[in-house]
Amino acid sequence: MQIVICKDADQASKMVAAYIERAIKAKPATVLGLATGSTPIRLYKDLIRRYKEGRIDFSKVHSWNLDEYIGLEPTHPASYRYFMNEQLFDHVNIDKANTHVPDGLAKDVEAAAQAYEDGIKADGGIDIQILGIGSDGHIGFNEPATSLVSRTHVQTLMLGTRQDNARLFFDGKLDEVPTRAMTMGTGTVLDSRTAILLAFGKGKAPAIAGAVEGAISHMNQASALQMHRDAKFFIDEDAASMLTPKNIDFFKAVYADSDLKALENA
Ligand code: PGA
Repeated sequence: MQIVICKDADQASKMVAAYIERAIKAKPATVLGLATGSTPIRLYKDLIRRYKEGRIDFSKVHSWNLDEYIGLEPTHPASYRYFMNEQLFDHVNIDKANTHVPDGLAKDVEAAAQAYEDGIKADGGIDIQILGIGSDGHIGFNEPATSLVSRTHVQTLMLGTRQDNARLFFDGKLDEVPTRAMTMGTGTVLDSRTAILLAFGKGKAPAIAGAVEGAISHMNQASALQMHRDAKFFIDEDAASMLTPKNIDFFKAVYADSDLKALENA
């Protein structure tokens, strides 16, 4: 794991956008794994800026989103397909036929989940997986006690997750937040070549402390990233605030020595 403690969410988002720019320049047909939620919005804004400045060409990029609510139409403003169109796809030259979000309306959800897994594999696997983290440590919608080797599946959402999302995306109306979602599994996420997790604010500090310094546990799904071959956390000072001070100093020293530092002004 590489832990990059950034000045603020803006700096972290810009660094990750610069990382993605560099990756797409090196491999135009990069396969991105994408996330929704409030956390990646700044990242998507900066990717749009880079596209408009002629620095990134998305024409050959493919994408696979982590999750989607069961039962929301893609035209529903809180659906993740709608979110992705609004926050990124409608503003860059990605071919929408190459963008994938799990089918929350599938009649046979088991078959749809398997088809999603097969599709990722047929696409060559995910090069860069973007992740947020829930206050309960979830990645995608993999709630506590989900198998750490899970694949794409239907997941019942915890009340706290639904409350967080009601506040942010459903005008506070908890009853309107679906109770289930289809999500890539934590095992699916572990197959990505690089995983980049973003976390901002004190609300994420316990989950980050558990993921980074806790033992690997299904009670904090992000802790499974300790087993990932190339996981990078870009977090702000608040999200880092419950890490042990000596570890914070060490992560800052490692970062100062790493090639990621070159992204600060890229
Ligand atoms: P948030 O959600 O970005 O809205 O905080 C993150 C998550 O639940 O994964």
